[in-house]
Amino acid sequence: MEVREVDWRVVLPLRWEVLRPGRPVEAAHFAGDAAPTTLHLAAFVEEEVVGVASFYEEAFPWEGIRGYAYRLRGMATAPAYQRRAGIGTRLLRAAWPLLQARGVEVVWCYARIAAVPFYAKNGFLRYVPAGVIEIPDVGPHEVWYYPLAKGAERIGV
Ligand SMILES: CC(C)(COP(=O)(O)OP(=O)(O)OC[C@H]1O[C@@H](n2cnc3c(N)ncnc32)[C@H](O)[C@@H]1OP(=O)(O)O)[C@@H](O)C(=O)NCCC(=O)NCCS
Repeated sequence: MEVREVDWRVVLPLRWEVLRPGRPVEAAHFAGDAAPTTLHLAAFVEEEVVGVASFYEEAFPWEGIRGYAYRLRGMATAPAYQRRAGIGTRLLRAAWPLLQARGVEVVWCYARIAAVPFYAKNGFLRYVPAGVIEIPDVGPHEVWYYPLAKGAERIGV
């Protein structure tokens, strides 16, 4: 398995299949997908895309967490590979040095409740003050963040 930086069109099919099944493809397009600041990663087994993750320049929207922030979205592993091959973990580990090289200090996301153990296992911290947020058509989420830089303030753990 190999992780590569890719164009947003490469991540779209798997993102659509795993995260927006049964919805129009437009539901899988996220604002900023084509922005030059956005980082898209895909995990390949031979030439098949088996995992995707995208990182967008977007400030942390609550108080207490400071620093240059990116938001993680579209985190998905192909169903046949989920929790089998460490693909989600490999994608995050590949992203960290690339984002650090851009000066990113904190990465945050809306984590589906079912995926919370994945983020916790990968060193993310819960931003407790946000509580549980219902995202229409997607479900309940919590806010989790990963401090990439020392000194990114940690509260709400
Ligand atoms: C969540 C997701 C991206 C994780 O990717 P993955 O490749 O399956 O994860 P990994 O193999 O790297 O998992 C590493 C560890 O995270 C934890 N973990 C991952 N997914 C989990 C889940 N659904 N429930 C509980 N723990 C989970 C486990 O501890 C796992 O290690 P283990 O299987 O040895 O116990 C993937 O399962 C997925 O696409 N799920 C459906 C879509 C989704 O919920 N995406 C996140 C939206 S916020």
